Amino acid sequence: MGKNIDWSNLGFGYVKTDYRYVSNFKNGAWDEGTLSTDDMVTISECACVLQYAQTVFEGMKAYTTEDGHIVVFRPDLNAERMENSAKRLEMPVFPKDRFVDAIVKLVEANADYVPPYGSGATLYIRPYMFGTNAVIGVKPADEYQFRAFCTPVGPYFKGGVKPITIRVSDFDRAAPRGTGHIKAGLNYAMSLHAIMDAHRQGFDENMYLDPATRTKVEETGGANFLFVTKDNKVVTPKSDSILPSITRRSLVYVAKEYLGLEVEEREVYFDEVKDFAECGLCGTAAVISPVGKIVDHGKEICMPSGMTEMGPVTKKLYETLTGIQMGRLEAPEGWIK
Ligand code: COI
Repeated sequence: MGKNIDWSNLGFGYVKTDYRYVSNFKNGAWDEGTLSTDDMVTISECACVLQYAQTVFEGMKAYTTEDGHIVVFRPDLNAERMENSAKRLEMPVFPKDRFVDAIVKLVEANADYVPPYGSGATLYIRPYMFGTNAVIGVKPADEYQFRAFCTPVGPYFKGGVKPITIRVSDFDRAAPRGTGHIKAGLNYAMSLHAIMDAHRQGFDENMYLDPATRTKVEETGGANFLFVTKDNKVVTPKSDSILPSITRRSLVYVAKEYLGLEVEEREVYFDEVKDFAECGLCGTAAVISPVGKIVDHGKEICMPSGMTEMGPVTKKLYETLTGIQMGRLEAPEGWIK
């Protein structure tokens, strides 16, 4: 750890690291790929990604465990999700074994940037893929670049584990049979105005409702929801238009198998939210961040867990998941690479 970074004061931002992984797709095949020190991308001014947003991405993290090893959390699931995203946008698939291998090599090459155990920071890894050749009619590119870089990060929300306040958005995030279930840049581009508008109104994030009926909870754009009922059941929304979070899947497993909690993955009506005891946002970046207040057009729902700390079940979920990631608790088979 020779990089002289103030790990405990890192926000969720970009720090250029020494190496990134790059592979190009041309004439129907991926080249062998390489680690590169060049952080710049040079592509056609008419590249499909620039004209028609043909790009997909992933997010995952590497950690230093209690006994000083560097590990990556479930990269195989990110590879699978990127495969689904790529297929939906008519892009070639970057093979899963190559994806996992590239991530492991990337982290090894940037080992000096993996925050130390106990610092509160982690190494965020961003794989992505985009159409590079010139396309002016609306059609997919036939040349692509797959890249992965990493950057040390602190908490996604400024207050760390302090509960945040969110609002019910009047904007929709995803169409009923659209692209909400894949990790495509376009889903995030269209959320930028809603995020800035929420910030201008004093909220940390948006809660999106289902666009067809506006009665059901979907996600926030950067994270999925987990609720806890007053009798300690974990409830999380099921919908075809939310991103299937790997952190959420892991927390559902942790809730059932480590904590013995009942979990319901089902449609969650906004009307039910006022009756829950705890609310959290989960994702790779957010881990699980508590929500203290949800505001629906001026009407406040204050979670009984309050505005000063995480609710007790959210806290247990957080501690168990991070315990697995940091090597304090035994991980289920295949979770740690
Ligand atoms: C993640 O949790 O990895 C995300 O993708 C959320 C956001 C930073 C885009």
